[in-house]
Amino acid sequence: MIEYRQLTDDDLPRLRKFWKENWGDEFVVGHGVVYTPDGLDGFVAWDGNDWVGLVTYTFLGEDCEIVSIDSTLEGQGIGTKLMEAVVAEARKKNCRRMFLVTTNDNLNALSFYQKRGFEMVKVNRGAVNESRKIKPSIPLIGMNNIPLRDEIELEINL
Ligand SMILES: CC(C)(COP(=O)(O)OP(=O)(O)OC[C@H]1O[C@@H](n2cnc3c(N)ncnc32)[C@H](O)[C@@H]1OP(=O)(O)O)[C@@H](O)C(=O)NCCC(=O)NCCS
Repeated sequence: MIEYRQLTDDDLPRLRKFWKENWGDEFVVGHGVVYTPDGLDGFVAWDGNDWVGLVTYTFLGEDCEIVSIDSTLEGQGIGTKLMEAVVAEARKKNCRRMFLVTTNDNLNALSFYQKRGFEMVKVNRGAVNESRKIKPSIPLIGMNNIPLRDEIELEINL
C-alpha cells in the first residue's frame, strides 16, 4: 500500500539524498536555472519503509513548473498519482499552465507526459551542454544510449 503526502521542511535532508541518488547531485539544473530543494513544494510516495516516488514543483505567476518527478517502482501508477496531486494543487492555486523540461534522451518521460496530455512546445538545442558546465555529473550519454544534449519543454493547460 503506497501512501502519498506533501513534503515538509523536515524532509529536506532526505530530499537532498533522494536527488543525489537519482540525479547525481543535491541540486538539479533546468533551462539555466539551478534548483535546490529549499523552497520547492512536493509530494512523496511512501511504501511504509522508504520513499518510492517524489515530485517537486514551484509556482511562477499563473504557471506551475514540475521541477522533478521520480518513481523507483515504475509501472505501478506512482508517477501518475504524483502528477495528479500536483495538477490538483495547481488548479487550487488557479494556475493556467503546467510545464516541465525533460531531455532528448528520456524517451520514457516523453511518452509518459504526452500520454497524460502534455504537448511539446520548445526544443532548446544544446541546453544540457550548458547545464553540464554547472553540473558536471550530467553524463554525456543519457538514457537509451542517446547523446544527452537538448532540453524539451512540455506543457498542459489546466
Ligand atoms: C517517468 C516516471 C516518473 C513515471 O513513473 P511511473 O511510476 O512508472 O508511472 P506510472 O506507473 O504511473 O505509469 C507508467 C506506466 O505504467 C502503467 N501502469 C500504471 N499502473 C500500473 C499497474 N498497476 N500495473 C501495470 N502498469 C501500470 C501506466 O499505465 C503507464 O503506462 P502508459 O504511460 O503507457 O500509460 C518514471 O518512469 C521515472 O521515475 N523515470 C525516471 C526519472 C525520470 O525520467 N523522470 C522524469 C524526468 S523529466
